[in-house]
Amino acid sequence: MGIKIIEFPVLETERLRLRKVTEQDAPYLMEYLSDDEVMKHYGLEPFESIEEAISEIQWYDSLLEEQTGIRWGISLKDDEQIIGSVGFHRYVHQHHRVEIGFELSKAYWGKGIAGEALSAILTYGFETFPIQRIEALIEPENLASQKLVEKHGFIREGLLRKYEYTRGKYDDLYMYSLLKDDVGGN
Ligand SMILES: CC(C)(COP(=O)(O)OP(=O)(O)OC[C@H]1O[C@@H](n2cnc3c(N)ncnc32)[C@H](O)[C@@H]1OP(=O)(O)O)[C@@H](O)C(=O)NCCC(=O)NCCS
Repeated sequence: MGIKIIEFPVLETERLRLRKVTEQDAPYLMEYLSDDEVMKHYGLEPFESIEEAISEIQWYDSLLEEQTGIRWGISLKDDEQIIGSVGFHRYVHQHHRVEIGFELSKAYWGKGIAGEALSAILTYGFETFPIQRIEALIEPENLASQKLVEKHGFIREGLLRKYEYTRGKYDDLYMYSLLKDDVGGN
């Protein structure tokens, strides 16, 4: 059993629309996934071709198909352009846990946009999925992401040493979590 989505849920916040990403959006994704600063902590080299953006979108689709997560594209409410993404992946049914991921085009950093999007999906996730625990794995140098999740109540549990091997090196990752119990759920 997995996270079964019958109709893709469009989420709206004060400034944002979180919607399904389609292959037509690939040029928008390319704009920020080709940016070394955005990709520094993502575990992938900056994208060089539109095909890589298309396979990223296929990965979003596979999350839905395999019922292991969901990824939303972030756009401003009055615009079609995708400026980032946010979502859940690596759902483990047996243990009622899932992981979050997010990234935003550099031009939009520092405006509280990621926070607004994260808040919407955390509420949606706890209300909709049978989960107790949401995890975030973040590199120690990635201060913006740490600040972001801490502001949303995530607790840093420890450092996973040389947990991932990406871009030719081993990375330590902080394990953060937010429990349904932390936010007052049953
Ligand atoms: C992480 C990221 C999505 C944050 O987006 P954002 O919209 O700028 O975040 P917010 O504006 O909601 O900021 C969240 C908090 O982090 C703080 N922050 C932002 N950038 C920071 C930085 N470089 N250093 C320290 N704190 C930072 C903000 O000040 C804010 O806290 P405040 O409200 O107390 O001021 C964005 O920096 C990004 O896309 N980074 C690259 C991709 C990435 O690392 N993804 C996660 C992989 S685990």
